[in-house]
Amino acid sequence: MKLSDVFASYENNILPTYTKTPLVFVKGKGSWLWDIHHKVYLDFFPGWGVGNLGHCHPKVMSAVRDQISKLIFIPNNYYHIPQAKLAKELTYWTYPAKVFFCNSGAEANEGAIKFSRKFGKGRYEIITFTNSFHGRTLGALAATAQEKYQEGFGPLPAGFKAVEFNNLDAVKGAVTDKTVAVLLELIQGEGGVNVAGEDFVAGLRRLCDEKNMLLIVDEVQTGVARTGKLFCYQHYGVTPDIMTLAKALGGGLPIGAMVVRKEIADTLGPGMHASTFGGGPVICRAALAVLKAVQKERLVTKAQRMGEYLFERLQALKDKYRVIKEIRGMGLMAGLELTIEGKEIVQACLEKGLLINCTHAKVLRLMPALTVTKAQINKAFYILEGVLGHYQ
Ligand SMILES: Cc1ncc(COP(=O)(O)O)c(C=O)c1O
Repeated sequence: MKLSDVFASYENNILPTYTKTPLVFVKGKGSWLWDIHHKVYLDFFPGWGVGNLGHCHPKVMSAVRDQISKLIFIPNNYYHIPQAKLAKELTYWTYPAKVFFCNSGAEANEGAIKFSRKFGKGRYEIITFTNSFHGRTLGALAATAQEKYQEGFGPLPAGFKAVEFNNLDAVKGAVTDKTVAVLLELIQGEGGVNVAGEDFVAGLRRLCDEKNMLLIVDEVQTGVARTGKLFCYQHYGVTPDIMTLAKALGGGLPIGAMVVRKEIADTLGPGMHASTFGGGPVICRAALAVLKAVQKERLVTKAQRMGEYLFERLQALKDKYRVIKEIRGMGLMAGLELTIEGKEIVQACLEKGLLINCTHAKVLRLMPALTVTKAQINKAFYILEGVLGHYQ
């Protein structure tokens, strides 16, 4: 297909729901991407949080190849070994739990919302936070407390109350006899890389215990070693009642998971919730390969070590360039709040072969693969610094 035909087909045949960059990629390996003109890019935002292992990790590829040659799909009214193994693995690395598998982050959060309502037996309100992001389906969107995403899609499901992030008193003030859960991202990704405070999270856990409410952490973006722990909640010394996962868990293939604390897991029984493709054999093999690679390649430690280096470099950049207002994040999840809009900077980096992201207009987001090397970080900073130099 000629390049002009690719663009024309998108223009004519695909709903324009994405702001698109006119690049056609044909190959990826680790932190590198190749476009159709053979230009190479250093990807510091692989797959919007999907690429924790980088592009086309060999272990994921061979697991998928092997599984595809044996059994591609089997519905959830039967058993298969990859799902049994993956659920066991996830609960081993988290807490005594039972898992529900689905296909995306939004779907995992929808599951958590439905679970809460069933658990509540009449209590249905869920407290969420300003600048949160939980997905685009109606329930997840109602939980996403950002008007720009909700506008024009009402009426949204009722029962969501958004309060200020990191404000425990605001949460306490919002609790009523109808409140059943608190749902948060421990680091708000789309919302601008805002990190939840330790006291705040500990306070939420206490409050949920006192009121018999569920603490739900959305680790769709922070999960799978991104922040320097296998799961971000592990930084906080608390255990959630429900954790939702997606993005990086499948190594590039679609998966979502809702990990529910065992004592309450039987709230949902047969027929109450389902997802046809959820936890199929191929995706479970991919996710097992991801978790194995995280262990074998010591990617948790790597995210910590490379994260320290990344933040050291970011701090030096902040000291030098006044357009950087604040640096936030953890592990290999970094946000640079600028005093100016970030769109042009992202574009200028792209032209020089570095892919990064900008969220909330002024927050540059760097989330390189956990396999990133020091040399690649140095290269990224060489480009970034060259670009920022124009904005002094
Ligand atoms: C924290 C968080 N939750 C949920 C979602 C939605 O995930 P998906 O796009 O897989 O539905 C995202 C996507 O960016 C996210 O960052």
